[in-house]
Amino acid sequence: MVVKYAISEYHNVEEIYRKIDQLISKPIFPVKKEKMEEYLRYFDNKCHRSKEMTSEAKKYIPGGVQHNLAFNYPFPLVFTKAKGAYLYDLDGNKYIDFLQAGGPTVLGSNPPEIKEKIKELLDTCGPVTGLFHEYEMKIAEFICKRFKGVDKFRMLGSGTEGVMAAIRVARLATGKKKIIKLGGAYHGWSDQMVYGIRIPRTGRFEAHGIPKNCSKHTQEAYPNKISAIESLLRKNRFRGGTAAVIVEPVGPESGTRPVGFDYNQQIRALCDKYGALLIFDEVVTAFRIGIDGAQGYYNVVPDLTVFGKVIAGGYPSAGGLGGKDEYMAYLTAGLGGTKKKAMVGGTLAANPLSSAAGYYTLLEIEKQNASEKAGKAGDRLTKGLQKLIEKYGLPYVAYNQGSICHLETAGTMFVDVNISKPWTIPNALKQIKERKHMMEEMGAAYMAEGLVTLAGSRMYTSMADTNEVIDEALLRFERVFQHIEGV
Ligand SMILES: Cc1ncc(COP(=O)(O)O)c(C=O)c1O
Repeated sequence: MVVKYAISEYHNVEEIYRKIDQLISKPIFPVKKEKMEEYLRYFDNKCHRSKEMTSEAKKYIPGGVQHNLAFNYPFPLVFTKAKGAYLYDLDGNKYIDFLQAGGPTVLGSNPPEIKEKIKELLDTCGPVTGLFHEYEMKIAEFICKRFKGVDKFRMLGSGTEGVMAAIRVARLATGKKKIIKLGGAYHGWSDQMVYGIRIPRTGRFEAHGIPKNCSKHTQEAYPNKISAIESLLRKNRFRGGTAAVIVEPVGPESGTRPVGFDYNQQIRALCDKYGALLIFDEVVTAFRIGIDGAQGYYNVVPDLTVFGKVIAGGYPSAGGLGGKDEYMAYLTAGLGGTKKKAMVGGTLAANPLSSAAGYYTLLEIEKQNASEKAGKAGDRLTKGLQKLIEKYGLPYVAYNQGSICHLETAGTMFVDVNISKPWTIPNALKQIKERKHMMEEMGAAYMAEGLVTLAGSRMYTSMADTNEVIDEALLRFERVFQHIEGV
């Protein structure tokens, strides 16, 4: 089987970082004040039903929204319809959807062929029985037959749970303690992994409510510096050993910090040298970079692979762990397996609805070459944005890993924070606050132009993004770029 990938050519990592360094060394380039006021008026004038409902929601939901990725500034919008490349809000406004629910919908929103299968399933067995269903085998078989690093697969409730399971298995299999992650990488919100997230070298910065001991064995290595990982691996030999190195193969924060093409291979070699397991967190990349994951694209075989997002095609309970037989034996449910088992569970884990939704989504992605098509849309969007950036002489940086597109206008996650130099922190925090607000404004400006993005800095494309959709989106981005300070 010849797999076609979302990434058509590998980005120039050095050039991206050089441009980002320049971006971050300058003051911010936000939307001009008068134009921003006009954008904010859009929400008051055109979205009053959303405003009413989300104001009411504040009485019952902390902050008024349930989801971290929900658009918030100036207030959340209520979405009532999602179809292909488009979203529609409660007031009837139509948007091009580059949030794509945070990544699961490579086929586009609510594909009818999946919906029909789900309806059939609901008519027969409903969403859940708690007992074995054919679809849990079908999805596992599909994945095992395609992923180089997966002999067996266990479906779980979320990517966060998949990471927790992976760490537990790695410790059992190696008898070692330390887990090395890359600075800035997000691996879900479990106690051990809220460490060095978003921005490298921030350690327990966001670990409020998590006892120090929980992250005692979590370490972060500065991304793209292979020597930083080796240095930890070496030292860890005298501190309980390294159970695993966990990476997002395209780089921390879904590739916001891109990594060199050989980086994963080099980490594989280090893991072998020091007897640590290599965990690929493919929550974002599995089926999006290619039907056999980023591991297929980079041709690197991890010991364990974490799944999420696309695995349930946008339906609930999207998570899982796959890996080599010898490791997956620790996750044996029912009879058999190793003497000591890694405790995992979940009332709704591998329920028929999630398994069927995932199975038919993966079949369709493969049949339609959706990863490659979504990647082409991402290329077109990114190239178009790069041209606009040049045309308007902006310091912004656009780059992509196929259908994962980044548009850094504020560079918030690149502010240098180093908790081991506490005297630098107040200034860094001030910068982050200012740049974060600019991102919120950019997100609001895009939204007012009919573009839904992830936090004003990331766009996921899908197979539904035809050339016409992307070209229309670029016209809308241009309308924002025409009104940037200094243009
Ligand atoms: C790379 C990565 N790992 C893990 C997770 C956590 O997955 P979930 O939100 O399903 O718990 C995410 C979520 O965005 C992610 O991007």
